[in-house]
Amino acid sequence: MDHFTYRDGALHAEDVPLADIAAAVGTPVYVYSRATLARHYRVFADAFAGLDATICYAVKANSNLAVIRTLGLLGAGADVVSGGELQRALAAGIPAERVVFSGVGKTRDELAQALAAGVMEINVESDPELEVLSQVAAAMGVEARVAVRINPDVDARTHAKITTGRSENKFGIEWTRTREVYARIAELPGLRAEGVAVHIGSQLTDMEPYRDAYTRMRDLVAMLRADGHDIRRLDLGGGLGIPYVDAGNTAQTTPGPADYAAVVREVLGDLDCRLVLEPGRVIAGNAGVLLTRVIYVKEGATRTFVIVDAAMNDLMRPSLYDAYHKISPVREPLPGEGLIEADVVGPICESGDSFGKARPLPACQPDDLLVLRSAGAYGAVMASAYNARPLVPEVLVDGDRFAVVRERVTIQDMMDRESMPDWLDAAAPAEGKVA
Ligand code: LLP
Repeated sequence: MDHFTYRDGALHAEDVPLADIAAAVGTPVYVYSRATLARHYRVFADAFAGLDATICYAVKANSNLAVIRTLGLLGAGADVVSGGELQRALAAGIPAERVVFSGVGKTRDELAQALAAGVMEINVESDPELEVLSQVAAAMGVEARVAVRINPDVDARTHAKITTGRSENKFGIEWTRTREVYARIAELPGLRAEGVAVHIGSQLTDMEPYRDAYTRMRDLVAMLRADGHDIRRLDLGGGLGIPYVDAGNTAQTTPGPADYAAVVREVLGDLDCRLVLEPGRVIAGNAGVLLTRVIYVKEGATRTFVIVDAAMNDLMRPSLYDAYHKISPVREPLPGEGLIEADVVGPICESGDSFGKARPLPACQPDDLLVLRSAGAYGAVMASAYNARPLVPEVLVDGDRFAVVRERVTIQDMMDRESMPDWLDAAAPAEGKVA
């Protein structure tokens, strides 16, 4: 359930009409609902009540400082995958003791940064990373608390670009090598193996892959303990999917946190291990919308195009994954009002810059407002400045108030970071140098 609802014929974020935000901040703009973030966090946390579970919000889903802080104030830790995300989590007030650091390509500097901060766990994903972490920790005179991310070779049955737990994926260390890798950790200076980690993919709507992967992990923990390793934490990753098509509906159409927690309880409930969960999308996804304004309505030869001021650079998911995002008008359609079918597209010079085809919408006029729903996760964080379209602002709503939590970047801000080499205008390139 989210807090983007129609009241008096107008779509609101909590108690704030979205039209007020558009008027004050301009469009396109990402709008997040604090109450929805909090609700999603609490539903997730409540589902795991009674289990020794630490919830480390996956910062990659939405790394706005105010969003991280909203969740941190509710007790969330953070799952980070870069030095930048680590800095953001710490700046937002998440204690290092509640941070796990994942990722296949952590640099020496990033590992040193994590060790200096004192993170709870570093999830190592390869043999060479293990060796480097050992060197870095030993040089710093500290002991790194590590977990190995195991690749369980389980198909998450999700989009190919976001499945991570098959042996052909770049993630983790093949499960069949678990024993050997933990034996190596025991030999290396500066490392202490305290955990095991797994993450099989994102937008999972089927619980069976989780069951398969977690059953494998349970067996591996038992094996490692029998080998004498003091395994106290099992990091289960993230990945729980959300309803995109039915965003805003109260009826749960995909398995929710309770279904997921039931699998965890059943498979791992008696493992005597702290469980670490890394939800991202399920917390932030339906807590945000991308608010956009219609520029033109164009009658094409075979279809109607609603051209809006947001584009694929602002929300990449439809172009990148053919992802479905529900599109809602800010003005609520009147009962019985006829709907048109339109392709909602952005201004970018690529046919892939489309948010949805043949979408039912009330007849639109220029200046009308629309929202792309379920845009709170993997929306703003994946944006680019393609077509010299600077990053758009982010707004956090709380009841009847709202605040700009990231300002609109201007084209001048971007150009200010560029410079002309002083030799550029001095002379034309020597003849023959340019093909
Ligand atoms: N933990 C690890 C190690 C991860 O790699 C991820 C996501 C998560 C947790 C959080 O997964 P979530 O609960 O949000 O599904 N850009 C894609 C999604 C990429 C997910 C990458 N890893 C999209 O827009 O669908």
